[in-house]
Amino acid sequence: MAQEDVFKKIVSHCKEYGFVFPSSDIYDGLAAVYDYGQNGVELKNNIKQYWWQSMVLLHDNIVGLDSAIFMHPTVWKASGHVDAFNDPLIDNRDSKKRYRADVLIEDQIAKYDEKINKEVAKAAKRFGDAFDEAQFRATNARVLEHQAKRDALHERYSRAMNAMDLAELKQIILDEEIVCPISGTRNWTDVRQFNLMFKTEVGSTADGASTIYLRPETAQGIFVNYLNVQKTGRMKLPFGIAQIGKAFRNEIVARQFIFRMREFEQMEMQFFVKPGTEMDWFRYWKETRMKWHQALGFGAENYRFHDHEKLAHYANAACDIEFRMPFGFKEVEGIHSRTDFDLRQHEKFSGRSIKYFDPETNESYTPYDIETSIGVDRMFLSVLCHAYTEEQLEGGETRVVLRLPAALAPVKLAVMPLTKKDGLPEQARAIYDDLKFHFNCQYDEKDSIGKRYRRQDAVGTPYCITVDHDTATDGCVTLRDRDTMQQERVPVESLRQRLEEAVSLTSLLKKLA
Ligand code: GAP
Repeated sequence: MAQEDVFKKIVSHCKEYGFVFPSSDIYDGLAAVYDYGQNGVELKNNIKQYWWQSMVLLHDNIVGLDSAIFMHPTVWKASGHVDAFNDPLIDNRDSKKRYRADVLIEDQIAKYDEKINKEVAKAAKRFGDAFDEAQFRATNARVLEHQAKRDALHERYSRAMNAMDLAELKQIILDEEIVCPISGTRNWTDVRQFNLMFKTEVGSTADGASTIYLRPETAQGIFVNYLNVQKTGRMKLPFGIAQIGKAFRNEIVARQFIFRMREFEQMEMQFFVKPGTEMDWFRYWKETRMKWHQALGFGAENYRFHDHEKLAHYANAACDIEFRMPFGFKEVEGIHSRTDFDLRQHEKFSGRSIKYFDPETNESYTPYDIETSIGVDRMFLSVLCHAYTEEQLEGGETRVVLRLPAALAPVKLAVMPLTKKDGLPEQARAIYDDLKFHFNCQYDEKDSIGKRYRRQDAVGTPYCITVDHDTATDGCVTLRDRDTMQQERVPVESLRQRLEEAVSLTSLLKKLA
């Protein structure tokens, strides 16, 4: 099945099984804004817990914070967001549609990649086992021609973006003969800068009101609390402050479902270090964060680092952790060496001294900062994309199963009586009432047992427990494993310990040690 079709299926599965709904669905939705349903909110909370505990529980020098979304407007002047948090936009005069110039060019680069991949796939089919992909890529004339065009375009694009040369971005679009996907024409306006922050007003009257912004990143809440936390927590460098919270960006190109949203959630950690040590810590956090992702067991081949060519206005090094989504490798997390830019700017704009007194050297200095910043929603999407599986069963039936890591699954186990009579529901209820204090459980007695198993597979429940006519006499239930579909008899009293090991967040966190 084409990856595009797989992605469409994942999106409709999310809606059908209560993971993600379009926002204001009964009013036909609101572009790039989504709500999380009964299963989605559990999965999302588990992802947040996995992140929070890996940061705050496992590091004795990282503490948490929950700062407000609204902040003093000068914060965004100091941080550079008022002047520099822009996207280059271009309009098509015929369709009246607005696009991000950089995205139009990146799509064009992706088209060259697609052409190359098509040539490779065709040749692989033709030559079968004898196919040497590396040699084919290095020698095939058509592949080399596409590759040369792609590389030249990429080089020109990177230069234009680094210099934020808007005229050159437009010229690239014209030279590459990129057309508007709606009108099919090349009738483009000039490229302009567009600030991504949402504005609103505080104060009840227009006169007394002042403009404030919805935060476009949670990080600034940490920087402006650096002194509060360092002093009240008597924190010594190096130390970190972690925060999970909503962020807002007026994204023009909002697409790929929850990949690019206007309201989203970030999990950010700012790690303050002594100047001069930042590159060592940058490497440390790259490795640590990659390990966190890979502990989920999705396969190392599905992740890669991508070093930034164009650095944000605050960074002296930056890289992304990308995950293989159905629409290609995409950024899920950013790791940035932000220098002392933010603390210095807030020092300058607030007039307050934001320094660290180092008791070892008796000096005061502005700490440097390494940031790890991951989008909850993107992480959610990567987990779902990896988990969604359609399996062909014996007898021709298809089963849709979410192979979620057990610790992240919304429901850990479903308790079911085999039938609705002979006292089985009462026995099943008693087991459910005991286990619900320890795990997120569901009780289900509707429909045939086969249908109930399928329903649980579709939301990724790792275990089903079935109470049958022997349970009353042998004290055992049938425990069914979601992935293998194998069933075994297990004594009721051993269930809790057995499941705890398999589904707890602790088992997952221990992999990080
Ligand atoms: N404080 C640094 C910062 O915000 P960023 O690379 O702009 O850096 C960090 O964003 C992460 O936030 C991204 O890796 C992504 O996971 C998530 N993110 C950013 N914009 C997003 C959007 N419009 N929708 C969903 N997630 C987004």
